[in-house]
Amino acid sequence: MKHSILAAAGLGRSLTALLVLLPLLLATAGLSQAAENAQVGAPAEGGKQAGAPAPGGGQVGAQSEHQLYKAPGAASPASKEQVNIYRTEDGLITGRVSIPDPKLAVLVQPAGRDWREFRTLILRIVGGVFIVGTVLALAAFLLFKGRVRIRGGRSGRTVPRFNALERGNHWLTATSFIVLAISGLVVTFGRPLLLPLIGHESLTILSQAAKYGHNFFSVPFVIGIAVMFLLWAWDNLPERADWAWIKTAGGLLGGDEAHHPEVGRFNAGQKMLFWFIILGGAALSVSGYLLMAPFAVTGIGGMQIFHIAHALIGAVLITGIIAHIYIGSVGMEGAFSAMGSGRVDENWAYEHHGRWYEEMRDRGLVSSGDGRGTTGRLPAE
Ligand code: HEM
Repeated sequence: MKHSILAAAGLGRSLTALLVLLPLLLATAGLSQAAENAQVGAPAEGGKQAGAPAPGGGQVGAQSEHQLYKAPGAASPASKEQVNIYRTEDGLITGRVSIPDPKLAVLVQPAGRDWREFRTLILRIVGGVFIVGTVLALAAFLLFKGRVRIRGGRSGRTVPRFNALERGNHWLTATSFIVLAISGLVVTFGRPLLLPLIGHESLTILSQAAKYGHNFFSVPFVIGIAVMFLLWAWDNLPERADWAWIKTAGGLLGGDEAHHPEVGRFNAGQKMLFWFIILGGAALSVSGYLLMAPFAVTGIGGMQIFHIAHALIGAVLITGIIAHIYIGSVGMEGAFSAMGSGRVDENWAYEHHGRWYEEMRDRGLVSSGDGRGTTGRLPAE
């Protein structure tokens, strides 16, 4: 009871302080630096030293601070409601609170303005350009170059590519990533893009669902990324043979597009994407959980930095995944079945993953075929 009265009194004092000080702050923002400097460092009349206990027993801050302003009339010895404002070493403008939580004394965090500019402007531009640019580039690629075809046509014989665990984990990761991406985009672009279309009430419901979805689906995503690492890290280790694929960007920049004899289970492009997903996913998870537990590890400044990192890595990862989804579906004939049925056509395997195909054939894992093959032509035979 005593505590809540004290807290209420503290809150009341803080509010009064805010009301009194806000006009002062606004007015001062327009004043010259010289005028401000003159006040910075003025001895704190009745003010406390850094780290001194606040009236309510709380710690005001374990760093040195400069008094900025005194409330009008504060110098008067009769005034009990003496209000002081301080600038701490890390740039925070603070008042005084009589409750134990010193971060509630922060009135203004000037760096927050830069963060807000990033959140409301820069992130939207960077994210928008990345994502829309990738979609347009892929659409143009499809329009002018068309799908990557199986040159030899479908043979009708298949090779096992991914087992049930690999496929199940891929779709768990993929589903959760897509929910995380869409909910992240709703939170980022909802206001400028959706508000004019669906109005405040619907956007509120949607944003809240997006926020909950974002939190909950982070769990299967983290599990999926961890299992993906365990399943595929070995086959994604870089090797000298990757260089041949990189030099021609997998045949896009010339070379023999129809056959990649040096490529094992994954080509260099897939390996890059794999490590990008694992490392980017880990960075997204760490930064995301730090944001989900405010002030647990870092203060407001640290959280702003983690938010910026989280959002930028997310935007780049979404871009990469859009390209991956394109290649794994419409972009390349014969690719989707690898994650659908788990098997790929023998000619697809021969053309895109020559060395891996040879290994599978030598192990006797190529099916005898169902007679539906078109050309059945395999340059190796
Ligand atoms: C609708 C969405 C998706 C489709 C259609 C799709 C399709 C595919 C296909 C067909 C493969 C097999 C490629 C091969 O046989 O070489 C594959 C592999 C893979 N997918 Fe996806 N995928 C999707 C979403 C995702 C997402 C969201 C992630 C990660 C967050 C992801 C990560 C991977 C990884 C790491 C591999 C193995 C390496 C690679 O092929 O790059 N996929 N995917």
